[in-house]
Amino acid sequence: MIMEKKLESASPDETESIAIELAKEAKAGSIYTLSGDLGVGKTVFARGFARGLGIMSPVTSPTFTLVNEYRKGRLPLYHFDVYRLGEAEELYDTGFEDYLENGGVVLIEWAERIEELLPRPYFYISIEKDLSRGEDFRLITLKEMQ
Ligand SMILES: Nc1ncnc2c1ncn2[C@@H]1O[C@H](COP(=O)(O)OP(=O)(O)OP(=O)(O)O)[C@@H](O)[C@H]1O
Ligand SMILES: [Mg+2]
Repeated sequence: MIMEKKLESASPDETESIAIELAKEAKAGSIYTLSGDLGVGKTVFARGFARGLGIMSPVTSPTFTLVNEYRKGRLPLYHFDVYRLGEAEELYDTGFEDYLENGGVVLIEWAERIEELLPRPYFYISIEKDLSRGEDFRLITLKEMQ
């Protein structure tokens, strides 16, 4: 069965809590993608996800390196932000395929930029604002891409 869930968040803390719960079920080798506009909350979600894996170090967007590695949790976490990738194929230069084989969890911000290169299945997560419901409201959609 294909899973699709829509969740509502009213604050950064609530977005982190949603991510924490999701991370508790994460398995080695899984890919999670994060899509949504600039400043919508992808890194907030990634921080919660890290906490859910038991990673307590600060989580910020990877910038020049494109990927941050966290090895102190239940599973290793490889946090990508591919916003600055020139072309989708440059993903392979980051060692993406090696990370996948390393038994960790891969989480990718701005994954819509490399969508055609993603091996399935993966978990798609989108975060959207709805200003009619307030500045801090976010609609979070979780979908299993088979
Ligand atoms: N419900 C919410 N969930 C997540 N973040 C929220 C929420 N309400 C307000 N915010 C604020 O929105 C901002 C989200 O910033 P964040 O860096 O996570 O965005 P991003 O999607 O990673 O941006 P970028 O595309 O630049 O990587 C933070 O300042 C956060 O406090
Ligand atoms: Mg970010």
